[in-house]
Amino acid sequence: MTDHTLTVPPPPPPPPPPAATAAETAVRVRGLVKRYGRFVAVDHLDLDVPAGAVFGLIGPNGAGKTTTMLSLATLLIPDEGTVAVFGADPVRRPRDVRRLVGWMPDFFGLYDGLTCGEYLDFFAAAYGLRPAARRRRVADLLELVDLSHKRDIDVVGLSRGMQQRLGLARTLVHDPRLLVLDEPASGLDPRARIDLREILLELARQGKTILISSHILSELGELCDRVGIIEAGRMLAQGTLDEIRAASRATTSVVARLLGDEAALLAAAQAATAAGALNVQVAGALLRADLDGGQEAAADLLAALVGAGVRVVSYTEQHGGLERLFMSVTEGVVR
Ligand SMILES: Nc1ncnc2c1ncn2[C@@H]1O[C@H](COP(=O)(O)OP(=O)(O)OP(=O)(O)O)[C@@H](O)[C@H]1O
Ligand SMILES: [Mg+2]
Repeated sequence: MTDHTLTVPPPPPPPPPPAATAAETAVRVRGLVKRYGRFVAVDHLDLDVPAGAVFGLIGPNGAGKTTTMLSLATLLIPDEGTVAVFGADPVRRPRDVRRLVGWMPDFFGLYDGLTCGEYLDFFAAAYGLRPAARRRRVADLLELVDLSHKRDIDVVGLSRGMQQRLGLARTLVHDPRLLVLDEPASGLDPRARIDLREILLELARQGKTILISSHILSELGELCDRVGIIEAGRMLAQGTLDEIRAASRATTSVVARLLGDEAALLAAAQAATAAGALNVQVAGALLRADLDGGQEAAADLLAALVGAGVRVVSYTEQHGGLERLFMSVTEGVVR
């Protein structure tokens, strides 16, 4: 009799996990100093942008954002400190760094008499792309920034938003790994900003590292996974928003929904105040309070309320967003 027992082969072993590699660093700046005469524009600044990050450089006018970016783009020689772009020093290896970086200045020229297609083709040629590769690249970039229909239109006939998108396309002609974009959203209306943000998010998905400066804080919050807050030439804080929040002890607000009568709510407000909460308000069954601190302070307040016998139905922490974080970290140094 034939034995019909089937021997099921053991499943293949799972592939070994990829070798752990230290996360690659796109930008590493240490102790950067730039002086204009006796004026110190950038003052011992450190900056770390991991590869693949979308990093927002936030700071008021004159903080030193453009100066810092110029040093990454090989366009400014630091007085002190070290700068590395994917390990390459912009002063010693400017050609390598220019290959790696797509630089979009805050103001850039558009040449009269060139169409959008010719404009991009000109820059692609400057980067040494051959004609066939240029034609493909120009078509792809116009498509990416949604300007294919404007290919044969004179660049000066573009709206501000379209000009910014064309400028962004120009920074991409040589397929750089790092984009350094100096306030690309300035002067754009809300719709144009959203369009730009979508393009940048698409580029991030494709693996580009993006360093972007802006004053439009809320915009950066939705785009960036990391931020650096710069003021008076110094980096006040950098990292993920949560890291900065934790380090800056930015204020947090909490809202608690409580059970009980008016006397119980009053007792809850007193307990919150005794626990160090600020601006405690009770309205209906809701207690609102500000806390000088982040998540830890929020957790401590909840514990104090429950410990005081307050019956808490729900408890929510509300972050103030990037704007509030920025105000809590910067000191309003005016220069
Ligand atoms: N070429 C220059 N000569 C003299 N001072 C300069 C020069 N470039 C910049 N500065 C000064 O250095 C400081 C930093 O300027 P920077 O342009 O880097 O600031 P920023 O953060 O980009 O400001 P903004 O938000 O207005 O663009 C400012 O006080 C500015 O006046
Ligand atoms: Mg600037």
